[in-house]
Amino acid sequence: MSDLYIGLMSGTSMDGIDAALVRFGDASLEVLETHEHAYPAPLRERLAEAIRLSSARSLANVESLHRNVGLCFRDAAMTLLEKANVDQSSVTAIGSHGQTIRHEPNAPEPYSLQVGDGTVIAADTGITTISDFRTADIELGGQGAPLAPAFHEWLFRRPGTDRVILNVGGISNVTMLHGDGSDTTGFDTGPGNTLLDAWIGRHRGEAFDRDGGWAAQGQVNNILLERLLADPYFAAPPPKSTGFEYFNLEWLDTFDIGEHEPADVQATLGALSANSITDAIRGNADEVLVCGGGIHNRELMRRIRDRLPGVDVAATTSAGLDPDWVEAVAFAWLAMRTTRGLPGNLPAVTGASHPAVLGITHRAIW
Ligand SMILES: Nc1ncnc2c1ncn2[C@@H]1O[C@H](COP(=O)(O)OP(=O)(O)O)[C@@H](O)[C@H]1O
Ligand SMILES: [Mg+2]
Repeated sequence: MSDLYIGLMSGTSMDGIDAALVRFGDASLEVLETHEHAYPAPLRERLAEAIRLSSARSLANVESLHRNVGLCFRDAAMTLLEKANVDQSSVTAIGSHGQTIRHEPNAPEPYSLQVGDGTVIAADTGITTISDFRTADIELGGQGAPLAPAFHEWLFRRPGTDRVILNVGGISNVTMLHGDGSDTTGFDTGPGNTLLDAWIGRHRGEAFDRDGGWAAQGQVNNILLERLLADPYFAAPPPKSTGFEYFNLEWLDTFDIGEHEPADVQATLGALSANSITDAIRGNADEVLVCGGGIHNRELMRRIRDRLPGVDVAATTSAGLDPDWVEAVAFAWLAMRTTRGLPGNLPAVTGASHPAVLGITHRAIW
């Protein structure tokens, strides 16, 4: 059997689908090809609306998004294979995260909903596709998130070193690999880029604050920062996970931010991400390996480094994996785990009652 897998991931930033073609060995991996696939603008708009407005989550609209996002993920996989010049018959499985529309692990009837129909992907690629990775963990009482920690542990654990893997996506999450061999822990720390993207979108119509240049022009307002940090999410004990449905402009608007200079708010939001991230890490790390799009935000990374004196903060590149592809590779790895009948969640992270083989397997249709 081949050991080639594809991982497809799109996070809360909705900046595009990350696709990675990966070969797995027993304790190693090789990334053969990567591809970043943009959503067509109208589909991205529809997704943003469905995330924002409950009225946009009618059954017919969600079904339509499920199919159309599935088609887009299929295109990402097909383009990836073309670039790699690899035939689909040599790929064992695709692990497709899909696009989260709603993540409610703490609701009385908990769920996490991703659109991007695995059957559509399997039918059109001829490759068995695993999707819906979060539900099994939620049914076992877990958060269904974060799911990358088991992969981080497999790839990055280093006996004798307290290593933290920090993923700065729309939401930030940490994985704590303990040097003493105790159970890996981890959780969502709160906003990464999502509020920075939303605020610059509102004031300047830009998708993101390139290199943190706008934030660097502002002054952090410490009173506002303290009020934002007083949100109960930050002090809540793990297991915990969050999303765009919580940390968004409506949340920010509850703090009467209108009286401040927009650039000062951007600087303060950068400090909010940096402080909540470093509060979670401080005292737990000899070394921090960073991945996710936030690593390109120079101002944010400067703040994170400043608050972790004596800790070695570096990109995951130093441990052999490009920081832009860690999440997509994690879903290729999760597909490999499921295909081999192995669990993909870490109960010490998600709070699930036990490990589980994750996802729904959509058999290849020829
Ligand atoms: N050069 C850059 N400067 C500042 N921010 C950046 C840069 N490149 C990427 N980003 C940020 O990274 C985000 C995408 O990160 P990603 O890890 O893909 O998040 P997600 O998993 O939520 O999709 C963008 O929305 C943007 O905020
Ligand atoms: Mg992304």
